[in-house]
Amino acid sequence: MNNDENTVYFVTGNKFKFQEVSEIFKDKNMKYDLKQRDIKTTEIQAHSLREVALFKLNSVKNSIDGSFFIEDAGFFIDSPLKGFPGVYSSYVLKTIGNEGILKLIDDFELSKAHFSAIIAFYHKFIDKILFFEGNVEGRVSNTIRGKGGFGFDPIFIPNILPDKTFAELSAEEKNKISHRGQAFTKLLDYLEKK
Ligand code: IMP
Repeated sequence: MNNDENTVYFVTGNKFKFQEVSEIFKDKNMKYDLKQRDIKTTEIQAHSLREVALFKLNSVKNSIDGSFFIEDAGFFIDSPLKGFPGVYSSYVLKTIGNEGILKLIDDFELSKAHFSAIIAFYHKFIDKILFFEGNVEGRVSNTIRGKGGFGFDPIFIPNILPDKTFAELSAEEKNKISHRGQAFTKLLDYLEKK
């Protein structure tokens, strides 16, 4: 296994997530190589994304020779659902899906929602775990719109571009404002200074 100091592994089985961070990575002229490792992590049910991310990271720490990160994201409908589905996002998408979520909302104009992403990064050469977070605020769309992105993207309208769902944005537009884009940019800023 490559343990080159300049290789950073993104442990994920989600090809959309890897694609998104690869795009940001390409735009920065980094001395690092970014590689995907699709290793099964252990996902626990916890109250915060940070706890989930830390557990996932520790579950694969002994399988990777080098610096690596995992990322955990959630979709939080703050009003009227008080943050649901949040840490249950994956389960809710698989069960009721976006159609089911829309049935839970009466007033879409007044709805409030956000995406959060937490990156847990294991920096092997200093033997430390670091966290990088990103959030994006918006509301829920009254219909499922757009073909881009994945997951809840077709029902999320960011405040900063109030006419479009995330699934109607180009990858570049989503990356500029998204939870994952912000968290990953913070990780890259950290690595750039190393
Ligand atoms: P995960 O546990 O980080 O993979 O994400 C939890 C759930 O949120 C999964 O069902 C993902 O499809 C969904 N999700 C994560 N990130 C995004 C995103 O950027 N857009 C839309 N849905 C997302």
